[in-house]
Amino acid sequence: MQLIDTHVHLNFEVFQEDLEALQDRWREAGVSRLVHSCVEPEEFEGIKALADRFPELSLAVGLHPLEAQKWKPETANQIRSLASSEERVVAIGEMGLDFYKADNYQQQKAVARAQLEIAQQLDLPVIIHCRDAATPLAELLQEFWQTNGAVRGVMHCWGGNPEETQQFLDVGFYISFSGIVTFKNAKQIQASAEMVPSDRLLIETDCPFLAPVPRRGKRNEPSYVRYVAESLALQKNMNLEALAAQTSENACRLFGIDPPDSSSTDSNWLASLSS
Ligand code: NI
Repeated sequence: MQLIDTHVHLNFEVFQEDLEALQDRWREAGVSRLVHSCVEPEEFEGIKALADRFPELSLAVGLHPLEAQKWKPETANQIRSLASSEERVVAIGEMGLDFYKADNYQQQKAVARAQLEIAQQLDLPVIIHCRDAATPLAELLQEFWQTNGAVRGVMHCWGGNPEETQQFLDVGFYISFSGIVTFKNAKQIQASAEMVPSDRLLIETDCPFLAPVPRRGKRNEPSYVRYVAESLALQKNMNLEALAAQTSENACRLFGIDPPDSSSTDSNWLASLSS
């Protein structure tokens, strides 16, 4: 079984000491690929260095909405050139709107639009962070779509209700569920998970945050994406294998990454034939 964790922050301090052990555990759990998010372009050098150590990583570059005040006239060029000069970059983000922790609404919207433009110019998907801003964000995306054309993307660590979910399905977006979907009290989010068509479904940890049940409250890590997959499989009445295969296929399609390498099993099989 192969899983893709579509949102990690392995560059955070909390992982510095034991990244190799983390890698052992994610490989054991079947995680074959990870998409590394980016909160601000200044992180990118460090993230690239991680991708040199861990070849399973694909990268994003962008500015988080809670960092929107750091946007400078040269930031668009900075993100564009980092994204286009590094072939491991598969997305722009994380970007979006967060009206839960900040009220610089106009600034956040302008920064979101600027990054949508970059994504469109480079033909890359966007990784969207959205908190307490589903309707304004859906409106912004629809408006952008009408004036500039479609952009591909994913609502990461999704926490919306079914009505909000539908708004993003309508603009063609994928919906990515994190550990939150395993929480007992997350009924609205689970209702959203049930309604998302399986070909638009992604899974992630958003580690180090939001560890899924049964690790809730602990430091989150990529291997725990398996708990997210197990929980979603139950909720969507799919078997785990099918959910893993479907979400991996979706991630490869959205981010343009190669399908998980199944050669380890294949080569064993071939070896058994030739012996
Ligand atoms: Ni994130």
